[in-house]
Amino acid sequence: MTQPVMSENEINQQAKILAQLPNGEYIEHHLPLVQDIYGNPYLITSNLYQETGISLYDEGLRSTATAESKITRIIPFVQTKNNSPQGILQYRGYNVKSLATACSFLETSYLLLHGNLPSNIEFKSFSEDITLHRILDKQTEKMIESYDRQTNPMVILIGTMSSLASRYESNYDMHKVEDRQALGHRLIAKMPTLCAYIHKHRIGQRPITPDDSLGHTANFLHMLLSNQSTTAEISQEHIKILDMILTLHADHQMAVSTFVARSVTSAGTPTISSIAAAIAALSGPLHGGANERVVDMLSDISDTQIDDIIAKAKDPNDPFKLFGFGHRVYKGMDPRASALREMTLTLLHDKKSSIEPDPMFDTALKLEEAALNDPYFIERNLFPNVDFYSGIALRALGIPKELFTVIFAMSRTSGWIAHIEESWQQKTALYRPKQYYTGVKERPLDWP
Ligand code: ACO
Repeated sequence: MTQPVMSENEINQQAKILAQLPNGEYIEHHLPLVQDIYGNPYLITSNLYQETGISLYDEGLRSTATAESKITRIIPFVQTKNNSPQGILQYRGYNVKSLATACSFLETSYLLLHGNLPSNIEFKSFSEDITLHRILDKQTEKMIESYDRQTNPMVILIGTMSSLASRYESNYDMHKVEDRQALGHRLIAKMPTLCAYIHKHRIGQRPITPDDSLGHTANFLHMLLSNQSTTAEISQEHIKILDMILTLHADHQMAVSTFVARSVTSAGTPTISSIAAAIAALSGPLHGGANERVVDMLSDISDTQIDDIIAKAKDPNDPFKLFGFGHRVYKGMDPRASALREMTLTLLHDKKSSIEPDPMFDTALKLEEAALNDPYFIERNLFPNVDFYSGIALRALGIPKELFTVIFAMSRTSGWIAHIEESWQQKTALYRPKQYYTGVKERPLDWP
């Protein structure tokens, strides 16, 4: 069992700060210092402004923990035997690679939501509840159909949240844990249906209704790949790979989308509306939108252009970045990237596999090697992140790139809901950061 984060001994520790104010006066202040379960120190600064008038300015929240959490842990890097730094990711204490291999995405979702892996009885009840709520209401279906077919699928997905919110949110009391749980299950259940319906609309096909005899991931592939006249044959291999991809993306502590979900929740906003905001955050090219960009980037370059693209990424006068490289937290290889790399390598080079070889994967390996041996990337600890290989893995399954980020959202919904629940349990104070104002001083209005 996880130990409490703040023991009495730890909270009794203090850190002294000494600051010289603009008027020359020195101010000395003691801040409580707590340690997380691994001994990393955190200053508790919530009362700093009230007690001293000093505010913290932490651009990009690089040094700020915005919540206490028991869900997911990241170790930025450990040195491996072959001397390459590797990050570690754990959900509720379990290594994510082990979870992806041994458990299904739905079992992992249960773990994220409830803190422990389910017993057989618990899983039966959980998966039955999810299966029951897969179906989409007519209003939301019509809403999807009302969008122009060219619309970005993430934009449509955000729109569908308002339809779901209008149907369900007023029936649930966010102050009751059982209502929050029921609403969370509905959303996890409906996400694959929403993603598949959005895809069918964009390609001009009628949607395929969920098949209750299929598991969560198999049903998603069925809704995506079958059509009115043909039921797609989906191999167990494809199902397991997609399921692993979903597990690897299910949570990642305070990524910007999760931070957004928790901050919107702090205003008392119900789950579906908070998740609409999280989806919008995920859609950005620096977050979940990067995997689509990686595939675009790799399809534009040939092996002979690798040096050029590395030079472009290093050029301080060029805004171009090597998509799928770098991470705010990992200072070694993102463990999700190494799991996906391994998985894709096995698949594409396995003669018995039904998956076709993909030259893009070979280009990715060459680009990776060039970047990992380049002083610019070495000095800045820039390693492949999850997005570098997730697009290629999804491509290998025949999934079009426009769907990569919606599939990411479908998976991350479990993590967002776990964080939203944790936030309610902690009775989180309203998120209301300060700002460091550098605008115009007060001036008289002389107009017209
Ligand atoms: N290509 C080239 N240079 C890079 C890259 C990259 N992919 N990433 C970071 N750098 C450089 C920056 O230019 C900066 O250089 P400087 O010190 O000379 O100014 C230095 O490395 C530090 O970068 P920051 O932007 O300060 O790092 P930050 O932690 O803010 O950014 C981020 C992390 C946004 C992920 C960044 O690495 C990036 O833009 N990567 C490409 C987009 C991407 O792959 N996003 C997916 C992230 S994973 C996810 O969200 C699921």
